[in-house]
Amino acid sequence: MILTTKRLILRPWSEADAESLYEYAKDLQVGPIAGWPPHKSEEESRTVIRNVLNGAECYAVCLKADKIAIGCIELKMKDKTDMTDRDDECELGYWIGRPFWGNGYIPEAAEELIRHGFEDLGMRTIWCGYYDGNEKSRRVQEKCGFSYYRTTKDLDVPLMGEKRTGHMNVLTREDWLKRTGKKENHSEPQKNISGKER
Ligand SMILES: CC(C)(COP(=O)(O)OP(=O)(O)OC[C@H]1O[C@@H](n2cnc3c(N)ncnc32)[C@H](O)[C@@H]1OP(=O)(O)O)[C@@H](O)C(=O)NCCC(=O)NCCS
Repeated sequence: MILTTKRLILRPWSEADAESLYEYAKDLQVGPIAGWPPHKSEEESRTVIRNVLNGAECYAVCLKADKIAIGCIELKMKDKTDMTDRDDECELGYWIGRPFWGNGYIPEAAEELIRHGFEDLGMRTIWCGYYDGNEKSRRVQEKCGFSYYRTTKDLDVPLMGEKRTGHMNVLTREDWLKRTGKKENHSEPQKNISGKER
């Protein structure tokens, strides 16, 4: 699936993106704050593309102008997130290379992926989290209409071998419809939200 926004193309990752993935994912300011270590080689980036960035709803964030992968955005389904075990809920995750920060690219990509999640995939609830102190990510979630849900102390960050405080936010289908002024396209009632305990 390929999704487009005003300035961006969201497309599946391919092993040919290893060079640009390594360029941005080796940055000490990108992965660790999101919970994963910086990449150490282009080969590692290729392995990550093959084994991690392979979810059905995982996209390379590219500028329309050149279609080069500069970031990543994903709706992580229940097999790829510890935030839910329901089929109609998922977690939004994202990052973008440092040279591109501050242009509103991730909020723009997230708005489209959220639309896709609710309209095309029939999601009822989208979760999104950030570790304490990640104000940039907190701000992205605020801009996209997420509301505070809960804070968990001593959350395992397995890839970093440490524990952190994590904040969890939520966007329900109902709130998204209100926010966008869209109408429900079927009459199924809103189910109760139920984040998995972490
Ligand atoms: C969080 C992140 C995805 C934001 O993406 P983005 O496309 O830059 O988003 P925005 O342009 O909307 O910027 C969000 C906020 O970051 C801050 N910011 C932007 N550029 C910045 C810069 N160069 N330096 C420091 N902070 C900056 C601003 O507070 C901005 O909010 P504002 O628009 O209200 O001023 C990006 O910073 C990133 O990839 N960070 C590292 C990985 C990460 O944290 N991923 C999320 C894990 S939960």
